[in-house]
Amino acid sequence: PALTVGVLVLGYLLGSIPFGLLLTRAAGLGDIRAIGSGNIGATNVLRTGNRWLAAATLICDALKGTAAVLIADRWGTDAALVAGLGAFLGHIFPIWLGFRGGKGVATFLGILIGISWPIAVVFAAIWLAVAGITRYSSLAALIASLATPLVMLALGDWRRSALFGLLTVLIWYKHSANISRLLAGKESRIGQKG
Ligand code: G3P
Repeated sequence: PALTVGVLVLGYLLGSIPFGLLLTRAAGLGDIRAIGSGNIGATNVLRTGNRWLAAATLICDALKGTAAVLIADRWGTDAALVAGLGAFLGHIFPIWLGFRGGKGVATFLGILIGISWPIAVVFAAIWLAVAGITRYSSLAALIASLATPLVMLALGDWRRSALFGLLTVLIWYKHSANISRLLAGKESRIGQKG
């Protein structure tokens, strides 16, 4: 139990670093939460017009999830999964921002890279295909995240499927405003100012 709580907290602290907010502030762009969708993730950082900053946000938000998993892996596979859960919760519910964090997509990818890189490739391919066709980052995330636990289930991997099923539910929950906009035909496309 002490180990579980320890890796959960470790993951949470890593995941709660709001890179999108910190990088845009450091670049003198003001508060990202006042721009576009108000989200702190890479898609919204792209709405500032700075592609490099958006790429850096994507990479850092992903790598903090990968780091949490790989650090905890020395204590076993279960510890790695718990650390991944912690990182995800840290990203979407960071204590530093009054528990109002991001939507979890980049961190989901990073955790997946640490836990099963081939399935991370599948996730990325689905995301790129949907985003390439529709230009909706949110729709790409919704479909790619839904596919992930289903692929794990098809491979008979119950434990990972259960964890990623939970993360997918949280991603969908955090995208509720995006889902409403998609259904109303009002969602902004990638690169479009909110
Ligand atoms: O990764 C978040 C993306 O799916 C939606 O972001 O800023 O368009 O709400 P945003």
